[in-house]
This record gives sequence, structure tokens and C-alpha cells, in this order.
Amino acid sequence: MFQLFTSTNETVQLPFVQIIDQPRFAWRGLHLDVGRHFFSIEFVKRYIDLMSHYKLNTFHWHLTEDQGWRIEIKKYPKLQEIAAFRKETVIGHASTRTRKEPRRFDGTRHGGFYTQDEIKDVVAYAAQHHITVVPEIELPGHALAALAAYPELGCTGGPYEVATTWGIFDDVFCAGKESTFNFLQDVLDEVMPLFPGQYIHIGGDECFKSNWKKCPYCQKRIKTEKLKDENELQSYFIQRIEKYINAKGKRIIGWDEILEGGLAPNATVMSWRGEEGGIAAAQQNHDVIMTPSKWLYLDYRQDTAKSEPLAVKVLVDVPTVYSYEPVPAQLKEEEAKYIIGVQANVWTEYMKTGDHVEYMVYPRAIALAEVAWSAKEKRNYNDFVKRLQANRILLDEWKVNYAKHVFK
Ligand code: ACM
Ligand code: ZN
Repeated sequence: MFQLFTSTNETVQLPFVQIIDQPRFAWRGLHLDVGRHFFSIEFVKRYIDLMSHYKLNTFHWHLTEDQGWRIEIKKYPKLQEIAAFRKETVIGHASTRTRKEPRRFDGTRHGGFYTQDEIKDVVAYAAQHHITVVPEIELPGHALAALAAYPELGCTGGPYEVATTWGIFDDVFCAGKESTFNFLQDVLDEVMPLFPGQYIHIGGDECFKSNWKKCPYCQKRIKTEKLKDENELQSYFIQRIEKYINAKGKRIIGWDEILEGGLAPNATVMSWRGEEGGIAAAQQNHDVIMTPSKWLYLDYRQDTAKSEPLAVKVLVDVPTVYSYEPVPAQLKEEEAKYIIGVQANVWTEYMKTGDHVEYMVYPRAIALAEVAWSAKEKRNYNDFVKRLQANRILLDEWKVNYAKHVFK
């Protein structure tokens, strides 16, 4: 409704209006990583408010990470006591790894988690705003926080520590031990009832296989399941979890790495490293959500100015986001229908506050909203810029900390 006004303070009479409009894609997503930095329920609701204004209808809530586990699981209290907190955080870019000088840390404990009651409250709030919440429980990689709490679930048995730096870690869930699957099934038993939507995102990205290569449990699994290699072991892992989730009436989504070693039969693929994963999945008749980093990663910088805050050093400016075409030209018509949507991702390594998140997300998410909603032939960047200018009045009234200089 607000979309008919330029300001919430206006008193205007609208004449009779008939709106004929429909979205291009069913899945119009925005993601938020609350693992690298934790954000309050109040902020999450504000994120949802803004999404709904721009008709983004799917909130992908990235709830577990190496650096923190953010969802209460009653059966496993150490997830709250240990996995939800890290002792400190690295300062500066992850790439300091390759520099000569030693890494520096802030010495400040960071963390937090959402209780199941808080999660229910957010899900209900989102539903009032016509937004579906899709939780992500990462497996088999990005699991260091969980391993710090329950080291017996890793190949080496630990000890492990909740990560204090960024990157990809060797320690992942052991694919050989039955206890890993028991743990994850218990976790999913508590997670699934909280989210009425059909999807559970199970991650699947960036899982190093080095420990699996050395682990007797993992190697035994490869033998007994007659798998070719560790890639097939990852597929075994994902397919086993998929079976469990499907049996409860839900569907899985995974990052495009789940294609390696063979796709789980009913999986939806989120194509992030590029479009290739999405193309391959659509050609195999699997649903796809396009979220390629080159166009749609909002943790990448939006400007090259020196004054920009710390961000991933790849430029994804507003025109880049707006230019994204979610249906790759090489797909045949009957394959193209598997592209069910498009999404931008917000990884928060370098975003410590809600204000900083808003700075990275707006106005780029408004460009995403048009990519997701508007018919391809109706998209026009110059028209969009005019609408974007008009939008500033509302963004100012709502005190959104959007990147104002990109309007210059
Ligand atoms: C991802 O950006 N690792 C999905
Ligand atoms: Zn193992």
C-alpha cells in the first residue's frame, strides 16, 4: 500500500485504482548470516519490514556457522552454552592469512542465540508480512561451532574452538559416525516444527574433505556404501539427510556444491559460485534459485571509494545487481521453468551492526526486488533510477542507513 505514496506523512486521497501486476518469480529472496555476527530480534523484524515493502517474500535465515550457532536446540544445551559464543574476532580482512604480519584479534567475546519462542515470534511476524522464513542448518561443513560443543561429532574428536577468524575450516562433521546423523536428526526434529514453510536449507557448501580422507570412520563408510570417493561421501551425507527431511514432509535446498558426487533426488539448488550449478541442476530437472556472487552478493563492495567500509573487494554496484538476468540464455524453455527464483546474500563477516547491514543491503536490495518481480521486458535501468530517487523519502523517514552516496 505504501508503494502508492512517496511519504508515510502524506495525506492524500487516492482515486479508484486497479492494479494489474504479478511477480515474475515465486521465490524473491534475501538472506542474512547471523552466524558471523549476531543480530537482535528487533533488527531481524526490521529487516523483514523492509523486505515486505519491496515484495521480497523469502527470508533465508543462515542460523549456524563456524563462528556461532544461533538457534536454541533443547536436547543439546552445549549449543547454547558453548557453540553460541566465540572468545574474540579477527580484525580486518580474512586475507591477512596471506600477509606477513600476524593476525590481530579484538579480545571481545561475541555471540548470542535465538530461543525457540523468539524464532516462532519472527516466523509469525514474517507470515503477517507474507514472508516465508527458510532456516539454514549447515552441514557437513561450516560446523566448527557445533563441534566445539560436541567434539565427538568430528573426525578427530577435537578439541575444537568456535572459530574466531573467517574462511573455510578443515574440521567438519564426520560422515562415518552414526552419532553425527543422530545429532543432526535430533536437531532437525526441533527445527522443522518451528518453520511452517516447505524448505529446510542444509548448506552443503565449502566442505573440505581432508579429514574425511584420513578418518577411519569416513573411509569405512566409503567402503561399506561402495562410494567412489569423498565427493560421493558428501552426496551420501546430503542424501541421507534429504531422506530424513522428506519423510517429515519437507524439502531440502543446498548450495551448488551438492551437485558434486551426485544430486540428492529431490533437492533444490542454490547457485552461488556462478550460474553453472544452476544451469546443470535445471538441466537435471531440479528447481533452482539463482544467487550468483558476481551479481548478488551484498557483502561485496558497492563502490571503489577508499572511504567505503571493509568489504569483499569485488565490485557489485547497483547497476550490476539491476542487470542480473536470472534465466540463463542457454537453458531451453522446458529447463528454464526450473529457475524458481532469485536471491541476494548478506554474509556478515565485516558487518558488526544492523546499521552496517542496512548500508550494504540498501539500495541494492531494491534493484534485486525489481529483478525478482518485474517482467524481463519491463526492466529499464533509467526508469528504475527515477523510482529509486523517489524511494529515498521513505527510506529517510524509516531511518534506514542506506548507502546515500551511490545516488550521486
Ligand atoms: C557461500 O557463499 N559459501 C554459499
Ligand atoms: Zn570422519
